[in-house]
Amino acid sequence: MERNGTVSEKELERQKEYMARMRELNEGFFAENGRRRKMHITTFGCQMNAHDSEKLAGILKEMGYVETEEEKDADFIIYNTCCVRENAENKVYGNLGYLKNRKKQNPDMRIALCGCMMQQKSVLQTIKEKYKHVDIVFGTFNLYKLAELLYINMTTNSPVFDIWKEHGEIVEDLPAIRHFKYKASVNIMFGCDNFCSYCIVPYVRGRERSRCPQDILNEVKALAADGVKEVTLLGQNVNSYGKGLDEKISFAELLRLVNDVEGIERIRFMTSHPKDLSDELIYAMRDCEKVCRHIHLPFQAGNNEILRVMNRHYTKEYYLSLVEKIRKEIPDISVTTDIMVGFPGEGEKEIEDTIDVIKKAKFNSAFTFIYSKRTGTPAAVMENRVSEEDAKRNFNRVLDVLNDVIYEQNKLKVGNVYKVLADDVSAGDESYITGRLDDNSLVHFKGDRSLLGKIFDVRITDCKTFYLIGEKV
Ligand code: 5AD
Ligand code: SF4
Repeated sequence: MERNGTVSEKELERQKEYMARMRELNEGFFAENGRRRKMHITTFGCQMNAHDSEKLAGILKEMGYVETEEEKDADFIIYNTCCVRENAENKVYGNLGYLKNRKKQNPDMRIALCGCMMQQKSVLQTIKEKYKHVDIVFGTFNLYKLAELLYINMTTNSPVFDIWKEHGEIVEDLPAIRHFKYKASVNIMFGCDNFCSYCIVPYVRGRERSRCPQDILNEVKALAADGVKEVTLLGQNVNSYGKGLDEKISFAELLRLVNDVEGIERIRFMTSHPKDLSDELIYAMRDCEKVCRHIHLPFQAGNNEILRVMNRHYTKEYYLSLVEKIRKEIPDISVTTDIMVGFPGEGEKEIEDTIDVIKKAKFNSAFTFIYSKRTGTPAAVMENRVSEEDAKRNFNRVLDVLNDVIYEQNKLKVGNVYKVLADDVSAGDESYITGRLDDNSLVHFKGDRSLLGKIFDVRITDCKTFYLIGEKV
């Protein structure tokens, strides 16, 4: 059955056939060696990639692999790569160099590369020339083919490269292993049409396409039935959800539908582009009791000329008025952002505008990046480059202001009681639990594992820049 030309059950059946064949091969390995083959996935980049890795893990489990925490124990290693900034790419090359010797010691080991970085021709060329120990390379449009590609590689013993230039159908109902039992991500759309002049995402993730609301709702309902309380709806630019679907539906309408799913208690979404954040969405957030009081709204830079050259389609004044409008409708909302420093043409006046936005918007948290030149994007050929030294100095200035602003925002919470979803045991201290407030603030408090996955009241007793400290009441 095909719905909107996006779903292929036939393709899923084909992949299930390959999963079964792989399982047979792996059962053979188990019979011979008395242990199951182990796999390890390293994820670079954003939540979209993290969610893709959950799908890869689901497929690998179907094929009879068991997950290992330690890459060095793995028989099958996948790097799910990112190419938004150069340092993420360098890390992959560094790791690959190191794996060369390991593979010599264990020729049965398999290495696969996938994700955004692989969508670039030059990368594929480099892998073929310099990293001949890589067994399988695939891209962002065909990760559902993992079983088939691995099967071909295992049975022919030759490398397999399968990169698509553009998207095919959206394959629904892939198996997935969720990282958390109580919270899950759900793709609502793929790709991006915005072409910000610095950004490589539209070239490696393709054109925007939305999943049918019914498929999304079915997935959310299935997650709720499986004990999930919090869903994060994922898209590069969720505000343009629905474009191109036969059915007329906006992101705000989708939020209201997801809000009605029984069992789900919290709804988050990522990422919103300021240029098309509608009043309708603000009202939906205000009205839907399950939609979290948090919006991630990247502003990138504060200077209007820089914003124009970035192709962002808004001004500093528009951005600030938008934040004001959101805070007026939803007073307890937290606003978080992405900031880029060192874009071509950025000087003293320009960085002051960025700092001004930080002070005025009073962000609750932010990701900050130094501009990284991405070959193939319009910004890569701009001449007025900022020196590394200036970029680093401005980056630190921005961080200083930002940290003060965030700390002030956190201080306002001390003494208050908030609902917290307990996520995990604290990394540093087993007697502490980490959780998230509705507004996405991170909180540490005394407790034990029995609290994980539950939502309860926590009083905030103290704060640092990057987290709150509390006690369960
Ligand atoms: N250099 C630095 N940061 C970038 N981002 C996107 N492209 C680049 C680049 N070339 C940042 C933006 C975006 C976030 C996901 O990554 O801030 O919002
Ligand atoms: Fe990149 Fe801009 Fe699309 Fe975000 S909206 S993915 S920054 S092109």
